[in-house]
Amino acid sequence: MRPGRRPLIAGNWKMHTSYEEALALARGCVERIPASLAVDVAIHPPFIWLVPVSKVLEGSAIALGAQNCAAREDGPLTGEVSAHMLAPFCRYVIVGHSERRLLLHEDDAAIAAKLRLVFDHGMTPILCVGEQLAQREAGQAGEVVTQQLRAALDGLTPDRLARLVIAYEPVWAIGTGVPATPADAEAMAQLIRAVVAELGTDGAALRVLYGGSVNATNAAGFLAMPAIDGALVGGASLDVEQFSAIVQAAEALYQQAADQATMEA
Ligand code: 13P
Repeated sequence: MRPGRRPLIAGNWKMHTSYEEALALARGCVERIPASLAVDVAIHPPFIWLVPVSKVLEGSAIALGAQNCAAREDGPLTGEVSAHMLAPFCRYVIVGHSERRLLLHEDDAAIAAKLRLVFDHGMTPILCVGEQLAQREAGQAGEVVTQQLRAALDGLTPDRLARLVIAYEPVWAIGTGVPATPADAEAMAQLIRAVVAELGTDGAALRVLYGGSVNATNAAGFLAMPAIDGALVGGASLDVEQFSAIVQAAEALYQQAADQATMEA
């Protein structure tokens, strides 16, 4: 974390929760996460719970996010949800999650189109990038992530690039209980900043998150890294205690970094 770049802790609920569980989890987050934080907090329930959860979040500091959107604005696309339908309810939309890339065959062109639609409708995309295990073992992690970034971001205006959130989520760390090391995640966050800077903005303003087996115990290790501004949390975001503890860790580290910057000034 770095003073001046607001951290973001985002909870991706994936395809979990019943209606009752979703409402209870959202209520728990509102109760446990104070309204005046220096850290941004978002939860990403399944599409079908977005509207009822938005009512639970009213007046709280917790923003709502979607897990995906359609690659087209409108039209005959059975089962899809357009960015313009999400805009009245959501501040963030996750784009290009590896589960969609790999299991649902989402390609670079679709990801680039979704990213633009999310911006067009005034929301913030959280673009996910990350390598698979074989790619890391072959020493190709940096190359894979660079290609994913270029494919999604090429041609975006500097203004949009600066507002973007990017989540580095190595595929082998997702849902496995085996996170990257904070040092490896930091190296990738620095690479991500350098690639975005090359594409035409000051990479220093960009928010980069780490995701992949983040929990209340290991979160601080990632959040303390200078190029990492937060976390995209899967499994642990379904547990109010864990999720609020991650938010509290981010808040404490950010306040510490801000106090230190004030002392040094
Ligand atoms: P886990 O935290 O369950 O590993 O999931 C990470 C993730 O994919 C968040 O988008």
